[in-house]
Parts: sequence; structure tokens; C-alpha cells
Amino acid sequence: MAIERTFSMIKPDATKRNLTGAITKMMEEAGLRVVASKRVWMSRREAEGFYAVHKERPFFGELVDGMTSGPTVVQVLEGENAILKNREIMGATNPAQAAEGTIRKTFALSIGENSVHGSDAPETAAQEIKYWFSDTEIVG
Ligand code: CMP
Repeated sequence: MAIERTFSMIKPDATKRNLTGAITKMMEEAGLRVVASKRVWMSRREAEGFYAVHKERPFFGELVDGMTSGPTVVQVLEGENAILKNREIMGATNPAQAAEGTIRKTFALSIGENSVHGSDAPETAAQEIKYWFSDTEIVG
């Protein structure tokens, strides 16, 4: 199986509750390696740009408010089948539907405050990594 990279965010609802380490540990225990990581406080412009695909959705304002309400830890994760693996350990977008043992089932508060984001496909992973990191910031 191919070694892949995926993009991950530990969202403000989680960083405010001091869960950065606990969430990263779950990713590492699943076999993913953190090859880039930084803590950012997004501007509205950055959050709107990152989530531009959702700009017509009714929850867009709420999403941008949440993402600019505190620090976010943006990360690049590397490992075998990293994109799918990360989505499996995150669990469903709505924590009410997330499987036992997943990050969202364990920590998320609601669909809006769902603690983590992860890329859903190779194309979005490449785009999202590039949005936050330069090549020299990724050290595998
Ligand atoms: P994420 O994986 O970061 O991708 C888009 C985000 O929009 C999603 O996680 C949720 O946090 C948020 N979201 C999706 N649907 C809703 C909704 N119905 N209400 C509020 N927020 C939502």
C-alpha cells in the first residue's frame, strides 16, 4: 500500500479544551506520523478561503465563526493509506453518528464543534496541505 500524506486540523473547540496531545496521540497510535505541525489563529479571510467549497451552505457563517474563535493546530499526517485511515479514526462528521473509539465520538461537542477536520481525497489533501504549508515546513 502507498505511503500518503493527508491534511488534518485540530479545531478551536478542541484546542480550547487542551486536547491537542490527546487527539494527536490517537492519530499516532493509528499509525500516522506528524510530519508538519503549527498552531495558527485563523483570520476570517483564511477560514473563508479554506472552506470556500461550503460558502453557499447555511452553516457557513457559523463554521467561520467557530474556526476563528481560538487557535487551530494544522498538521500534515503521513502513513500507509493516510487519507482513509485518518477519516476512519476521526469518525463521522456528526459526532452523534460517529463510531465508538473515534476522535469525534470521544471529544466532539456537535456537528459544528466537531474537534477535527481531515482531507477526504488525494486532490483535496494536496490542496489543503498547500494552503497551510510550504514544502520546507514538511519534514518526513
Ligand atoms: P469539516 O470536516 O471541517 O468540514 C466542514 C465542516 O462544516 C464540518 O467539518 C462541520 O464542522 C461543519 N458542518 C457541516 N455540517 C454542518 C451543519 N449542518 N451545521 C453546522 N456545521 C456543519
